[in-house]
Amino acid sequence: MTRTILLALLLLLGLAAAPFDVAPPAFAQSSNEATDRGVHPNPSRNPSATDEELMRVLGQERLPPDRVQGNVYLPDRKLGVLIQPQGRTWRDFRVTGTRWIHGILLGLAVLAVILLAVLRGRDRYRTDPEGRRILRFRAVDRFVHWMTAVSFILLALTGLNFVFGRTLLQPWMGDGAFSAMSLWGLSVHNAVGFAFLLGILAMAVMWVQDNLFHRVDWVWFRSGALFRKVHAPAEKFNAGQKLIYWGAVLGGLALGVTGVLMMLPISTVGVNGMQWLQGVHTVLAGLMIALIIGHIYLGTWGVEGSFEAMSRGDVDLHWARTHHPLWVEDAYGRRRPDGRFEPAE
Ligand code: HEM
Repeated sequence: MTRTILLALLLLLGLAAAPFDVAPPAFAQSSNEATDRGVHPNPSRNPSATDEELMRVLGQERLPPDRVQGNVYLPDRKLGVLIQPQGRTWRDFRVTGTRWIHGILLGLAVLAVILLAVLRGRDRYRTDPEGRRILRFRAVDRFVHWMTAVSFILLALTGLNFVFGRTLLQPWMGDGAFSAMSLWGLSVHNAVGFAFLLGILAMAVMWVQDNLFHRVDWVWFRSGALFRKVHAPAEKFNAGQKLIYWGAVLGGLALGVTGVLMMLPISTVGVNGMQWLQGVHTVLAGLMIALIIGHIYLGTWGVEGSFEAMSRGDVDLHWARTHHPLWVEDAYGRRRPDGRFEPAE
């Protein structure tokens, strides 16, 4: 089969009677003559041609750094590419490199969560003695957040299957079940990507005002609030949350754009372009999964009372004053000087 394809390609290149991009053949005289006549040597006489053997046939001792390319009279000019060594570099990255990158990033994220849990412990709070609660996220905020979160988790799981599935799942699932699941996963990944992108765009617009950095954020950073249980002044979002917001928005947009481009036909960016897109997409995905692991930890166990903000929408007044005093003062304090607060939805 391989021989037939190579033969067909060589024939196409030969029939085109155009010079190769690589240096002219420097071996057997007869081959040179054949090349000059536009008829190329037939590698089928060499039943298991390795790269080196093939290149000798083509007149090169070593693989050229770029591609080996001829001309074809077919509309798809890519068919003129016989050998593209860069493709092998990409394949190594795709098969081995991505596993290392994702493995290291996942490991670091889990380690960071363990360190946070050990160094900082659970951030508990005292409830307001009068049981007062204030609205933190409207229904539309929560809808957008959970749409983005659910789609991100689906994207992360189906995406990690592309990276680790063959090593971790295929051996015990069997070829048939793994293949069916992966095909299904691919469709989910492609479809859900749009919901994720929509969610990220909505978050970008809805929450940008509350995530602009101000002088007070430096005070928060300098207080070491991320690593120690101190409560530095913070607006609606503290400086750490603002970093998560910008990471999610910028990373999410870049993931969305590279993802959509990869769905389009190869002709938009070419073969090398597709390889670059895949590389950028997978590295960004790894970084973002690591970021969101930290976010999920802080939004659930790490900071007590935080999850209620995104589930029911309102939070305990004392929690709000402890974690986001400037926001409480700004959004409610000045508006209701009698000390009473807007009721939750
Ligand atoms: C199971 C998954 C998730 C959980 C449990 C979760 C939980 C939360 C909670 C409780 C908050 C409110 C924090 C507060 O009131 O201060 C929040 C805010 C937020 N979430 Fe999530 N979230 C999840 C997934 C995601 C994902 C996948 C993204 C984006 C890709 C995301 C982006 C944000 C952003 C930008 C905010 C506002 C800034 C911040 O609090 O960091 N979340 N999340």
